[in-house]
Amino acid sequence: MANTHSAEPTRRDFLYLATGAMGVVGAASVAWPFIDQMNPDASALALASIEVDISAVEVGQSITVTWRGKPVFIRHRTEKEIEEAKAVPLTALPDPLARNSNLPDSAEATDANRAAEGKEPWLVMVGICTHLGCVPIGDAGDFGGWFCPCHGSHYDTAGRIRLGPAPQNLLVPPFAFVEDAKIKIG
Ligand code: FES
Repeated sequence: MANTHSAEPTRRDFLYLATGAMGVVGAASVAWPFIDQMNPDASALALASIEVDISAVEVGQSITVTWRGKPVFIRHRTEKEIEEAKAVPLTALPDPLARNSNLPDSAEATDANRAAEGKEPWLVMVGICTHLGCVPIGDAGDFGGWFCPCHGSHYDTAGRIRLGPAPQNLLVPPFAFVEDAKIKIG
């Protein structure tokens, strides 16, 4: 039977601003609920996209928005974070693939392949740990990116898994810049 819940929550309800270490997803020890009956039906999901104004997200800040019922991290990286991510040899990556929905499945997990094309400072990633689905904490962990406290997975400043049980890099969803400071996800 078709679900009667509203198909798409308003952005206002789910747009958080997380600055520095006080990430709003800090209560990350709770797994993101994968509850089918709370999601819109498949046809609504197929259409769902959101536009996000990122003009207020300063360098070093992140926001978390909800897209198709999932948290999506949007991070405005610092030069230092970008340089650190670029300096990592591909051989040091447990998952060598970019996991970027905007690129072929075979794309390598270089920093450029993880970031927005032509918009190197911006990272857009589904904020769900690829191990068992917890929401990682930003600005945390041994590699300065994200840390999942559920079982100890460390992601770097390009959202790539570096240490711990998570098998894959955080997923980059389909998205595009529709204006200089506005992205469409989905
Ligand atoms: S769910 Fe993240 S490490 Fe297990």
